[in-house]
Amino acid sequence: MSAQALAEHAPAKINLALHVTGQRADGYHLLESLVVFCQAGDRISVSPSDKDSFRVSGRYAANVPIDGGNLVLRARDLFREATGDGRSLSIHLEKNLPVASGIGGGSSDAAAVLRALRRLPPAECDWPSLALKLGADVPMCLSANPAIARGVGEELEGFDGLPVLALVLVNPGVGVSTPAIFKALATRENPPLPKLQVRDRAGLIGWLRETRNDLEPPALAFAPTIGVAQDALRSVGAEFVRMSGSGATSFGIFSSLDEAEAAAAEIARREPDWFVQATTTEFAR
Ligand code: C5P
Repeated sequence: MSAQALAEHAPAKINLALHVTGQRADGYHLLESLVVFCQAGDRISVSPSDKDSFRVSGRYAANVPIDGGNLVLRARDLFREATGDGRSLSIHLEKNLPVASGIGGGSSDAAAVLRALRRLPPAECDWPSLALKLGADVPMCLSANPAIARGVGEELEGFDGLPVLALVLVNPGVGVSTPAIFKALATRENPPLPKLQVRDRAGLIGWLRETRNDLEPPALAFAPTIGVAQDALRSVGAEFVRMSGSGATSFGIFSSLDEAEAAAAEIARREPDWFVQATTTEFAR
């Protein structure tokens, strides 16, 4: 990493609750979701360089496309189009999170590239709209703060005062297609999120029990091993278990990071091929 490298954490995004409330004329779904971000994540580093390069390392590097379809490169290219900034960039992605797994992944990586580029002077541009061009989840990942997301995910209302949660993330190694999951929804007009009155831990968990991830039933139908992963989380003491996004990663809530780490170690011992990660919703930027 050169002295000028701009490093950014690309945190895992967790949809604590996700209600699908309608559908737009263009087919995109309207939703209401409470999203939080984790210490677990990928890492992006961007450095001005004498030529463009893109390098990927980390456990899931082999699953990352390195052609123009990659959201990291699309973020770089859209930034250039929007600002006319033509300097060459060397980008490194440390891919620690499984690909296409409902916890941000490519969206969070793209958002981290934008955050890094935002630090390069003079870089004046409309970052949220650039983010939305890259995907419905990229604006929420750009801010990476707890929020209620509405619209297709781009209307963000910051949500303060949530307790820090200790989580275990589990992905049983199945990929699910986001468009296919949305398409398979039995109903698209579900009630909005209820109001979260008490923002302490007990209040939040009580509220979670009144809410849903509407994408979970179709995802479970496509990939029943998501249910096996959820049973594993329950068997090691998770207080609450739900799938994030369109899956296939689920999260379990534990009472402390120590407990989450012990639970994660037990699941990983039983299922060495799964992605199993203890983390918290608090992280250093
Ligand atoms: O915006 P993004 O490329 O991440 O979305 C992937 C696909 O997920 C879209 O093409 C669409 O089929 C579906 N989607 C949706 N409603 C949303 C977000 C995504 O139907 N709010």
